[in-house]
Amino acid sequence: MSRLIVVSNRVSVPQAMGAAGAQGGLAVALSSALREHRGIWFGWSGKEIETFTGHLDMQRNCDVTTVTIDLEPQDIDEYYNGYANRTLWPLFHYRIDLTEYDRSFDEGYERVNERFADSLLPLIEPDDLVWVHDYHLLPLGAMLRDKGVTNRMGLFLHIPWPPTRLFVSLPNHEQLVASMLHYDLIGFQTEEWLDSFIHYVKKEMGLRVTDDCAIEYEGRQILARAFPIGIDFDEFTEGARSQEALEAHDRLKSSVRGRKMLIGVDRLDYSKGLGERFDSFGRFLTDNPGMAKDVVLLQIAPPSREDVASYQQIRQDLEQKTGHINGAHADVAWVPIRYVNQGYPRSELAGFYRAANIALVTPLRDGMNLVAKEYVAAQDPEDPGVLILSQFAGAAHQLTDALLVNPHSTEEVSEAIKRALQMPLEERRRRHQALLAAVRDQDVVLWREQFVTVLQGDAPPAPPQA
Ligand code: G6P
Repeated sequence: MSRLIVVSNRVSVPQAMGAAGAQGGLAVALSSALREHRGIWFGWSGKEIETFTGHLDMQRNCDVTTVTIDLEPQDIDEYYNGYANRTLWPLFHYRIDLTEYDRSFDEGYERVNERFADSLLPLIEPDDLVWVHDYHLLPLGAMLRDKGVTNRMGLFLHIPWPPTRLFVSLPNHEQLVASMLHYDLIGFQTEEWLDSFIHYVKKEMGLRVTDDCAIEYEGRQILARAFPIGIDFDEFTEGARSQEALEAHDRLKSSVRGRKMLIGVDRLDYSKGLGERFDSFGRFLTDNPGMAKDVVLLQIAPPSREDVASYQQIRQDLEQKTGHINGAHADVAWVPIRYVNQGYPRSELAGFYRAANIALVTPLRDGMNLVAKEYVAAQDPEDPGVLILSQFAGAAHQLTDALLVNPHSTEEVSEAIKRALQMPLEERRRRHQALLAAVRDQDVVLWREQFVTVLQGDAPPAPPQA
């Protein structure tokens, strides 16, 4: 088996946090991939150093060898807070209104990608597979090629790929995509994002693409495919049976005193549709006065990317909205929204999910969304909760037995909440069974195996199981 080198901006072995913990789903998915292959995980330490030295810090953690570099404050500002999270993240989540362009961001992004390439180069051995992750490192493959790397290299994008008409608003868009075409394989979460990418390379770059999505570029063929990511089902369900999970479940259940509970668990990010979700819940309370006092919404939202203004803004907006809705509806013994700005260990989250009658997973745009899958996996099959899922999350393509909603419509989401609260046990079980099969069969192991198999060039990709 070839050694695997995984490269991503953030390197953390996330035994502690769930998919929406501070690290997000990517870290959860990758550590399990690395335990299987003997390999290394390379990236930024998350730490700041006054002047970049290129020093490699090697550590062995839970069977995974991590190699990290520290970055300078200017790097973090221009590359991570700048190009990655003020330019690409909003644009790729269709938020052209929040997208900022600044030449210094481009320079910082190039510079840090070069730093990654230079630091990684001496670690690469001839048979290694190099697997790069996410929007922080799109040009890394091209830079490694420039330095003479001929290994098989793949890129997986964890976030959406925007429609061409939006993407072309990015200055130097063609240069960015051309740099991506130095990988051998480019993976997307869904066919929808894959189609947008293929549309771009055909229409804007005039490239030829074969029927099985091999893009012809400068005499080479680059494969592009959809590989929907999943959760580590076995590990998650084992955690859900742990003592911590049971205690978390009981603690939360007794605190709601027989009321029905709705849960939301998301990084505090504008793409997650939290404001719209709170509005929808507020509307449900107003429209259903007879049911209002019997429900509680628990929203867990650990802060994220706090140096970026749009994230400070969403935090302020949500605090205001929570205060407003709670002020309008609460009484002395009941507050409708419990809004919590901290992350929880995975096993505790599993207990919270199981205690919740409904999960509200209503992003305005999301590459996949693993919280939806974790919620399904954590349910008691005899008395399962109901998943309300945004049609704009990648997960909606697989989890078609959820109540799919348009998160922009407060009316639709409010009605879905009512329907979920009144849903007969038999329908809940039927839906949950189908959802569980999808979450179990399309897990992180299948995702990794399919990607690595295609990257190795061994076999054609097996289609995802229905
Ligand atoms: C999303 C991205 C990941 C990122 C995570 C957390 O899941 O796809 O690449 O690591 O959010 O964001 P952060 O900026 O804290 O790494």
